[in-house]
Amino acid sequence: MAAVSNGAPTGANPFDFVDIMSSSPQTLGHLLSLAARLKSAHRQLGRNDPVCAGKVLAMIFEKPSLRTRVSFDVAMTHLGGSAIYISPNEIGLGSREAVPDVARVLSGMCDAIMARTFAHQTIEQLAAFASVPVINGLSDRSHPCQAMADLLTVQEEFGSLEGRTLAYIGDGNNVARSLLEACGVFKMNFAIATPPGYALPAADFQALQSVYRIKTLITSSPKEAVVQADVIYTDTWVSMGQEDEKAARMPIFRPYQINSQLLAAAPAHAIVMHCLPAYRNVEITDAVLDGPQSRVFQQAHNRLHFQKALLAFQIGGM
Ligand code: CP
Ligand code: NVA
Repeated sequence: MAAVSNGAPTGANPFDFVDIMSSSPQTLGHLLSLAARLKSAHRQLGRNDPVCAGKVLAMIFEKPSLRTRVSFDVAMTHLGGSAIYISPNEIGLGSREAVPDVARVLSGMCDAIMARTFAHQTIEQLAAFASVPVINGLSDRSHPCQAMADLLTVQEEFGSLEGRTLAYIGDGNNVARSLLEACGVFKMNFAIATPPGYALPAADFQALQSVYRIKTLITSSPKEAVVQADVIYTDTWVSMGQEDEKAARMPIFRPYQINSQLLAAAPAHAIVMHCLPAYRNVEITDAVLDGPQSRVFQQAHNRLHFQKALLAFQIGGM
């Protein structure tokens, strides 16, 4: 636990994990190799070093979760610490209590804060006022923990990341943005096919291109996007908070389904990924999700190994 500030923002904490682009490439590289190391220690040797013994992670959720909640909780248990789940209505983030006050209270009792929010600004505000590391567990803007765990899966599959091509098909959403950024940092090529009106803003690509020389393909044709893909990736067409748009979105996104016909247009070695939860036979067919090219459950399990690396780095001194 760190000293608690009484009023002013505490300033940037080098251990915050708010976005891919706000972490240094060195840190991200370290986290990826640490995740691989901790996974192998756990799987092969049954070993989990208690580097977070006595430490507590606060987990604030404004939205539902299976993977993020369980992986952070289990990660803390493996590392010798514990986690507290704070449900959407419990603290009334920004309504019952101001976000800076929540950040300052939790900083005096807990060692790190993970938050899943609607507005990305809420996570930035938590980070600005907390004196302990803050982790983005998904916001409307980004899902950086997901993207990093996903690159661990790609690395396990192909042995390396540089020069591999990830083709994202569907909605230009939070998951797509974090994948784009992670691909940039790790020198992967990024192809994206979205319906017109649902693309990632050009500013996202420009921001990335000014820092990293990433090769991108932006199209509205799923087939064009997957032709050179090593990884074909999709996510729901209706993210949490967009439920009212569901009826309007369904017909627009239908041509973007990951199905056997689309896989036939991709290289035979391409793997299929989905951050889950999947709406079966909507954005991805059963045949593909349960087929030989799918890596979705390995991908889900890797959430645990990346969260362990992140926590071990932030509060475990690794
Ligand atoms: N992929 C992911 O973040 O899953 P949850 O919403 O279940 O946490
Ligand atoms: N884009 C999805 C990801 C869920 C893990 C959402 O925000 O709901």
